[in-house]
Amino acid sequence: MRITMIGSGYVGLVSGACFADFGHDVCCVDKDQGKIDLLLQGVMPIFEPGLEELVARNVAAGRLRFTTDLPEGVRDAEAVFIAVGTPSRRGDGHADLSYVYAAAEEIGRSLTGFTVIVDKSTVPVGTGDEVERIIREANPEADFAVTSNPEFLREGAAIDDFKRPDRIVIGSDDPRALAVLRQVYRPLYLNKSPIVEMSRRAAELTKYAGNAFLATKITFINEIADLCEKVGADVQDVARGIGLDKRIGDKFLHAGPGYGGSCFPKDTLALLKTADDFEAPQRIVETVAAVNDHRKRAMGRKVIAAMGGDVRGKTVAVLGLTFKPNTDDMRDSPAIAVIQTLQDAGATVRAYDPEGMEQAKQVLDTVVYCEGAYQTMEGADALAIVTEWDAFRALDLRRVKSLLTEPVIVDLRNVYPRDMVEEAGFTYYAVGR
Ligand code: UDX
Repeated sequence: MRITMIGSGYVGLVSGACFADFGHDVCCVDKDQGKIDLLLQGVMPIFEPGLEELVARNVAAGRLRFTTDLPEGVRDAEAVFIAVGTPSRRGDGHADLSYVYAAAEEIGRSLTGFTVIVDKSTVPVGTGDEVERIIREANPEADFAVTSNPEFLREGAAIDDFKRPDRIVIGSDDPRALAVLRQVYRPLYLNKSPIVEMSRRAAELTKYAGNAFLATKITFINEIADLCEKVGADVQDVARGIGLDKRIGDKFLHAGPGYGGSCFPKDTLALLKTADDFEAPQRIVETVAAVNDHRKRAMGRKVIAAMGGDVRGKTVAVLGLTFKPNTDDMRDSPAIAVIQTLQDAGATVRAYDPEGMEQAKQVLDTVVYCEGAYQTMEGADALAIVTEWDAFRALDLRRVKSLLTEPVIVDLRNVYPRDMVEEAGFTYYAVGR
């Protein structure tokens, strides 16, 4: 199959490289010349485990190429994926679809024979209709079908998620388009991955409903964690106790500082906008978004309380800045609100993150950035673990104690056993335990 990805960002690049690995002939297009130049030199514009090797292997095999020339990429393609960004529009929280629509128009002008246009970007219900209209208007003669095929890739595990998905969702009623997409995903059909074919609108909504549900699950356990603290129970026991019920499932029940990232905060808001437009209120999701927002700053106050309630003139060592480990992504990271709360209360923040420091500097410019975990703690009055990178799971507690002026650890990701930390002489605060 000849496949073209429009947009070589996170989703486009991972998906394009994986499709090439399936044996397809893939062209990744991006408007950003700098990004394409880097890719042509084998440099990845994002950090994702395994991606560099995957790209190199498929470029060497002649199955994967990069260009800024969209018409050239689209001309002979059998399937054109739209994988451009859909950020939250400033002001109203609606998904900003201008990149999707611009791509649609340009694709429309470049189409030759029958082509399947596949929307992989996360877009509100009904966007497929508009993409279809735009292409038709740009090229009334074109022979095409617009389908929806949302992605469910987790950052840090994206390649594995692509190749061993829980499910593939394909939204189309067009038999010719379905035939093409079945070829595109042939290796996954062959290994019996569950593939769900449905209407385009159902596929568009599935993506939002899935992310909103996961955000709800996290927020639910976070509130149970707060209750655990009050009643003297351990939220990890409760999570395990309920998670073994197959109807509930044990995933996404880790209590923490609230969810962040490029998807959950943005997608829950976009779902609420769609709910508004169609007059079908989603009160649960509305509450989830509000509770999560509130929680991030509350976690900053938790650190302040652990330090005796007044942090003026004090220093906090923060380990972990990205919204989760194994990414350099700072978008909507809880660390931002935690750190701002500490700084607003008068604390100095020293911080370290294995991959996210460059991105962090864009949003948090008054933090003292350090070279490593231990350097961060030098002279600090407490340690706060905000993102659970593996490197922070086995700290030398004796060394930590010698570096901090007060032996206080606030573990917002529950990575340490309480006994161990207390035996080492620390006052230990965790979430829901
Ligand atoms: C998510 C979805 O998982 C993925 O299917 C979708 O396509 C994109 O959004 P991602 O944003 O990469 O992926 O991260 P994910 O691993 O889902 O974590 C999201 C946030 O929730 C992180 O801030 C994480 O720390 C937090 N989280 C996750 C918890 O606080 N507790 C949990 O139990 C799970």
